[in-house]
Amino acid sequence: MKALITSGGRGTRLRPITNTNNKHLIPIANKPMLFYALEAVAEAGIKEVGVIVGSDTKNEIISALGNGTLWDINITYIEQDEPRGLAHVVKISEPFIGKDNFIFYLGDNMIVGGVKRFIEEFEAYKPDCQLVLARVKDPQRFGVPEIKDGKIISIEEKPAKPKSHYAVTGLYIYDNIIFEAVNNIKPGARGELEISDAHQYLLNKGKVVRYSEITGWWKDTGEPEDLLEANRLVLDRAFELEHRQIEGYVDDSDIAGKVIIGKKTEIINSIIRGPVIIGENISIKDSYIGPYTSIHNNCEICNSEVEYSILMEECRVINVDIRIERSLLGRGASIIRCTGRPRSHRFLIGDQSRVEVV
Ligand code: G1P
Repeated sequence: MKALITSGGRGTRLRPITNTNNKHLIPIANKPMLFYALEAVAEAGIKEVGVIVGSDTKNEIISALGNGTLWDINITYIEQDEPRGLAHVVKISEPFIGKDNFIFYLGDNMIVGGVKRFIEEFEAYKPDCQLVLARVKDPQRFGVPEIKDGKIISIEEKPAKPKSHYAVTGLYIYDNIIFEAVNNIKPGARGELEISDAHQYLLNKGKVVRYSEITGWWKDTGEPEDLLEANRLVLDRAFELEHRQIEGYVDDSDIAGKVIIGKKTEIINSIIRGPVIIGENISIKDSYIGPYTSIHNNCEICNSEVEYSILMEECRVINVDIRIERSLLGRGASIIRCTGRPRSHRFLIGDQSRVEVV
């Protein structure tokens, strides 16, 4: 079994964060999103992993993942010159996959609980294709299966009138017959080779398409709010029950719930209510950090309150007397209360930034 993981795409709807960061490298619980996919396939015992890179962001991805030694896997980079669809990704990966079975994992999908169980099912039942479905409120944004008597009978890409409440998530397991499918379909409505059309091809040919259902799945819909939701999902479920790991210094501050505090971090006279992850070399003083907050390395928070937020590296929040909530702070961002006169709001913000004031 090999793995194929996508990492391309511009993430335009997550600007300004994606102006300087590939979407797949945005930290979720202080770890780049894409690392979760690599960890999941490594945990399932897969050694050969193909990572699909776009021409514009490949350098960033390659420098973050290297050759895969961090996960004890071998990474082969496969370049897709233009976004031509997921079935096209499979098509260009045939030389890498060869005769093996493989798992195809979209790197912007977060799947809590790993992928081992799905691979085990595939190996036990030996279908031609194993899909992972999740019940969603807005199926028209996804590939949608039609299910009858526990079997998938058709699959449509982003249908106006979905035939079920399920989305086909970004996790697929295939045998070699998928190459016949991707080589025989034509581009769909958005001009790309759609993976749903490849699945429909398999169904038309009478191939065995199985499915499993999951909860704990998240797919970016392009809004910063969705990253916060992914962060919440990981902080909520990924930590073991009552997991607490404190490597830094904590004075008699009040720490409650699941909390991770990294090395060289100091928590002074503060309240931390988990689930919260706080990285390394961070100073938190006279502050409150509330549930579902991730704070990356080298940040400083003083005399302020932060909850349900993601702070990337080197952020500063100083003397802000209104609670910061549902916020995403990019690398090196600062929010500082102005002390001089005239008392005014002063902003220095990049393209497509958003500030909400009270
Ligand atoms: C793609 C697939 C779609 C699937 C989704 C899951 O959509 O085409 O069938 O449901 O990934 O993430 P896209 O992200 O290209 O809109």
